Amino acid sequence: MKAIQYRTYGSSDVIEEVEISIPSIQKENDVLIQVKAAGVNPIDIKIRMGFMKEARPVEMPFIPGGETAGIIVAIGNGVSKFQVGDQVIALTKTNGYAEYVIVDEDFVLPKPQGLSFEQAASIGINIGTAQSVLFTVGQLEKGQKVLIQGGAGAAGGAMVQLAKAAGAYVIATASGKGLELAKNLGADQVIDYKSQDIAGLFNDVDLVADTAGGQAQEKLFRVLKPGGKLLSIVVPPSQQLAEQYKVKAGFVVSDISAKTLQNGLELIKTGKFKSVVSKIFKLGEAAKAQDFLTAGGVNGKVILTVD
Ligand SMILES: NC(=O)c1ccc[n+]([C@@H]2O[C@H](COP(=O)([O-])OP(=O)(O)OC[C@H]3O[C@@H](n4cnc5c(N)ncnc54)[C@H](OP(=O)(O)O)[C@@H]3O)[C@@H](O)[C@H]2O)c1
Repeated sequence: MKAIQYRTYGSSDVIEEVEISIPSIQKENDVLIQVKAAGVNPIDIKIRMGFMKEARPVEMPFIPGGETAGIIVAIGNGVSKFQVGDQVIALTKTNGYAEYVIVDEDFVLPKPQGLSFEQAASIGINIGTAQSVLFTVGQLEKGQKVLIQGGAGAAGGAMVQLAKAAGAYVIATASGKGLELAKNLGADQVIDYKSQDIAGLFNDVDLVADTAGGQAQEKLFRVLKPGGKLLSIVVPPSQQLAEQYKVKAGFVVSDISAKTLQNGLELIKTGKFKSVVSKIFKLGEAAKAQDFLTAGGVNGKVILTVD
């Protein structure tokens, strides 16, 4: 099968397409998926650059790719939820940039009806991340005010939609075409982070979800009401600032188990959650796809399609 791998950390130049054997079922709960589309995520790039060496060391050669959509072509003896021929999405953690991937059935879900494989490969990590930040940790409630930093990004766009569906008042920061996208996804108010300073605009936000990190994070403390929460999926927020502004602040690692994705999948069924695919590349263009994501201004998910 064709797979995308690299043998050493570095720029996208280290990425190569190789021909390797189709993996075989190892454990009784494994399924083998013929991959039709794979999501490209910022973490794929952070791992490749070697930024995650401590937190997430990988064995070389390494095949990236944490989420896919495809068709089950073989199952282990203990698999109870799926059959050969099922169309599914899978949260694979690694090895998704390939024609076939093995994954435990607990990280597999039926592909939502009406979504293409490309759309289906775009939703898992986004929904899992949004659900974890807004509800599991953020405890967001109907009527509360939430600010999503990066509300037109892959994770941020999902947060806008889940927060809106839960009855929150949603403020999203974005730039360029992302402003219109965030509005279309349901944001009640959109702020152009390149031309407006959010620090002076709000002081009564219940929950801030930071999907951008960087120096801009400091200003996010200032929009919260006392007792509010700042949750980041990029960098752990300063506890000193949290004390100073009398708010809670923390880093969230997303839970992408099938259970956490359930709310978002229900919203897809009722048309309240849209998959947002920014650009589709061929599997062999994985380096180009990662560079496209690195460049910014992406607005939605970057996808690799597998013929
Ligand atoms: N902790 C976890 O479990 C977890 C899970 C998923 C993702 N993540 C991380 O979360 C981050 C976002 O992931 P993603 O897939 O959503 O990436 P993405 O699609 O590239 O989205 C990032 C968004 O942030 C916006 N942005 C950049 N600088 C900004 C600023 N100063 N103010 C406001 N918005 C700004 C970008 O807007 P423009 O470029 O259009 O201006 C873009 O829309 C990545 O670092 C990823 O690794 C963590």
